[in-house]
Amino acid sequence: MKLRTIGVLTSGGDAPGINPCIRAAARLAIARGVEVIGIQEGFDGLIRGEMSPLRARDVSGIIHRGGTFLRTARCPEFLNRKGQRQALRELNEAGIDGLVVIGGDGSMRGAHALAGLGFPVVGVPSSIDNDVWGTDMSIGVDTALNTIMQAVDKLRDTASSHQRAFLVETMGRGCGYLALIVGVICGAEVILIPEVETRLEQVSEAVEDAYARGKTHAIIVAAEGAALNVDQVAAHLNAHEVGFETRVTILGHVPRGGSPSAFDRMLATRMGVEAVEALMGGMTDVMVGLEGREIEIAPLEEVVRNSRSPNLAFYKMAEILAR
Ligand code: ADP
Ligand code: F6P
Repeated sequence: MKLRTIGVLTSGGDAPGINPCIRAAARLAIARGVEVIGIQEGFDGLIRGEMSPLRARDVSGIIHRGGTFLRTARCPEFLNRKGQRQALRELNEAGIDGLVVIGGDGSMRGAHALAGLGFPVVGVPSSIDNDVWGTDMSIGVDTALNTIMQAVDKLRDTASSHQRAFLVETMGRGCGYLALIVGVICGAEVILIPEVETRLEQVSEAVEDAYARGKTHAIIVAAEGAALNVDQVAAHLNAHEVGFETRVTILGHVPRGGSPSAFDRMLATRMGVEAVEALMGGMTDVMVGLEGREIEIAPLEEVVRNSRSPNLAFYKMAEILAR
């Protein structure tokens, strides 16, 4: 069956690069003679029937903007069959015959559920966490890394001036990817991630050791999901005379915003195009993903059964290089 109308929605946590992805998906579909409907606020807006046509000019001026102009939401009702059936009804009523779902691992589970009801769906991974299985990089990860890197570089300036230790907490939910990579590229003395068990004493010993070796500062990058929390670590360091005074910075949602990097714009554009091509080619229940240099297709069944974990060889590498 030839697709006549596709819907696009963005769901879960936003990530820089979603806007260029929506633009690419919409413009490619329009170029192929397919109508596009933008669904507002993810599955929540879908259940409420909040949608309107997207024409070429409606996606103008967003290629460089962070966030998602379709807005996003988390939608508990969509977790159950009743919500999913309501969504299906709204899609059919609007005459939509294929859907692009842009979001993180939770949204891919939602996309898989909808595809399981027989509706054609293709997922696009976007999440700063980089925990979505089936892609080397999700949309937004590169921009978030750059934002965190710049923040840590700035903190390092002030840390060195005052001879301080800085604990910097990054987002990432249960995944340590952002903290690990930033730890490597910013030369952190300690990296705290959920994937590696670390004791408080190991942290204080590493910081004390850095002081003894003549370092003017110590940077500890901590993932929000790490077992040790930053306040607990700061209290331990302050109580143990490690040489440096300690300060804590929680970056919070800052890395979720900002203009998408060159890498994210290109990745988002390629993924948006490939998602529409896949739908038009009759594919469903799949996700587009970056594998090496190519955009590949992964079954959503596999995507939702697994999660992407960071390469722990980088953890060892950072430890050696921080000496
Ligand atoms: P992200 O997509 O960024 O990981 P969430 O985990 O909050 O964000 O998921 C976004 C939305 O996807 C949820 O609010 C819900 O509507 C939908 N979703 C998540 N998990 C499932 C699931 N197991 N089945 C159906 N829908 C789901
Ligand atoms: O999944 C993206 C993410 O930013 C996580 O890193 C973080 O744990 C969570 O979303 C924060 O969620 P919220 O935007 O609801 O505060």
